[in-house]
Amino acid sequence: MPVVPNIPELMHRTLFRTVSLLAPSRQGEILGRYFDWWHRSPDPWRLSTDSYEREKYAATLADLPARPYRDIVEVGCAEGVFTQALAETFPEAEITGLDISGRALARARARVREERVRFVRANILTHRADRRFDLAFCAETLYYLGREERLRRASDRLGDLLAPGGVLVAVHPWPEAGRLHRYLDARAGLTRLSERVHRNPQRPFTVAVYRA
Ligand SMILES: C[S@@+](CC[C@H](N)C(=O)[O-])C[C@H]1O[C@@H](n2cnc3c(N)ncnc32)[C@H](O)[C@@H]1O
Repeated sequence: MPVVPNIPELMHRTLFRTVSLLAPSRQGEILGRYFDWWHRSPDPWRLSTDSYEREKYAATLADLPARPYRDIVEVGCAEGVFTQALAETFPEAEITGLDISGRALARARARVREERVRFVRANILTHRADRRFDLAFCAETLYYLGREERLRRASDRLGDLLAPGGVLVAVHPWPEAGRLHRYLDARAGLTRLSERVHRNPQRPFTVAVYRA
């Protein structure tokens, strides 16, 4: 079947690629403003109501190696919809949600009001965590980071979040996930445990699981 170019998606990727020509901290300021604007109304991606998103969350959790997880981080947590699912799935765990949008995080804090769940404003390109996690997620976020050097940098930061033996799960649209996850695949100290393509007819996606 011929590959039909998706024009809005192409424009979207070009816009974020252009922003990624700036220094990482400046890029982060612009992304922060952009995503604050994007969150001008609640739940702009309909993460809390869309059945596709629920299917994706279930598929993400289903691929986790079974073991107790105590310290979990979600990078690009937006308004905390998946964070809430994590809090329900892992009632004993400490959970951290990271996002670049203060407005999204304010809604996340209102959504998940548990002491063991905290939300931190951070740019994954520059963030240095003060702790290591045994489980990390990054879903539907890497395509905002633009050019290859930024994907490599973000992949390094994601790897740095993990404690020895920690698990990282990356979830992005297929087939673009091949490009977005390339630097996770190549990162020294990360081993890919599985990669599953979910062939949803409209929006196929990949769940890739790594271990430090
Ligand atoms: C589509 S949402 C992800 C939703 C969530 N991961 C899920 O699957 O439910 C993408 C999020 O990435 C955040 N983001 C974009 N660039 C970021 C960066 N450099 N550092 C941290 N968060 C970023 C945005 O603010 C936005 O909330």
